Amino acid sequence: KKKYDYLIVGAGLFGAVFACEAKRAGKSCIVVDKRHHRGGNIYCEDVDGIHVHKYGAHIFHTDNKEVWNYVNSFVEFNRYTNSPVARYGDKLYNLPFNMNTFYQLWGVTTPAKAKVKIEEQRGEFAHIAEPANLEEQALKLCGKDIYEKLIKGYTEKQWGRAATELPAFIIRRLPFRFVFDNNYFNDAYQGIPIGGYNALIDALLGDTEVCLATDYFKNRAELDGVAEKTLFTGCIDEYFDYRCGHLEYRSLRFEEKRLEMENFQGNAVVNYTEREIPYTRVIEHKHFEFGKQPHTIITYEYPDSFAPGKEPYYPVNDEKNSRIYADYRQLAESVPNVLFGGRLAQYTYADMDDTVAAALALCKTEL
Ligand code: FDA
Repeated sequence: KKKYDYLIVGAGLFGAVFACEAKRAGKSCIVVDKRHHRGGNIYCEDVDGIHVHKYGAHIFHTDNKEVWNYVNSFVEFNRYTNSPVARYGDKLYNLPFNMNTFYQLWGVTTPAKAKVKIEEQRGEFAHIAEPANLEEQALKLCGKDIYEKLIKGYTEKQWGRAATELPAFIIRRLPFRFVFDNNYFNDAYQGIPIGGYNALIDALLGDTEVCLATDYFKNRAELDGVAEKTLFTGCIDEYFDYRCGHLEYRSLRFEEKRLEMENFQGNAVVNYTEREIPYTRVIEHKHFEFGKQPHTIITYEYPDSFAPGKEPYYPVNDEKNSRIYADYRQLAESVPNVLFGGRLAQYTYADMDDTVAAALALCKTEL
């Protein structure tokens, strides 16, 4: 018999939930991660008391009561509510589009007046029957003001292409809210773990053995020998040595700054919707946890293309990549004693609640 029941490749949220449940089921696990820290993409670095989201802003939100109760059994969550602000020129607009936004755009003070204004804006583009691109689609849905101030530049930066060159289907509908409610999410539950995401990961991993700075592929022969079964949460194309092709991602580039001031922008998330400003968002991390430190840490977020060596952030779920992934999926079925899970092995964008739910589902069938 081998030393462990499970080798878990990846100390991210998926691997950590599996490790926790495996232990509860009486199984022994060892976790390896190539990074120098646990937590995968939800890892935060503590900079003099401010938890800095190193791989992009993370806000836990869910409609899944079981998942919410599950994570709350490990850590308490604070009352953080995501309410991003958009900046265009020197004007600020609340998001998502709601009565506050309409008031800021047009001075309209009631839902009835806002609806009239939006109809008037859309009316100009009523002649567009079949939008040929994202620009036409957006104009048809919301008219010129919202499109030019809040959608065009941001979208063009995100995709690295002109809105007239982007397919219309990217925007199917625009949710308008006729109430004064800046809560970005519609989910019943949201918040940030008190003590940060590392507290959640630490609670999940408990005393499970974790080997950091250990790349599975550089120690494959040895690692394959230590456990009866493996849970692999890394990139599925790398697992199979890219034999069906490389899966594509879009990446992000972060520029972090420490400022010796208490409060830089008064909000955790500010979107910059002008095309001329190269970054899409500025994150001020302390506001996720209502920090009162005398200093602050901000991160400028730039969309970035993907290349080997860069962080894979967003899968490109187009036809070509979906086909490649299907080939890998088929290969994965044929590997005995190896489970594949998590966002990289499943080539999917999954919010944290989906990740927890998927890991718990795997535990149910496996353990
Ligand atoms: P994750 O990538 O976290 O973990 C995989 C681990 O495997 C990594 O630690 C990696 O180092 C390790 N690994 C890979 N290959 C290896 C190898 N060969 N050897 C050893 N280790 C290896 N969700 C949400 O609910 N709210 C939010 O606000 C956000 N925000 C957000 C922003 C951005 C920019 C992104 C990309 C994603 C989000 N998410 C999110 C989603 C969230 O990040 C996601 O659900 C979880 O991090 C997924 O956890 P995993 O464990 O699947 O992957």
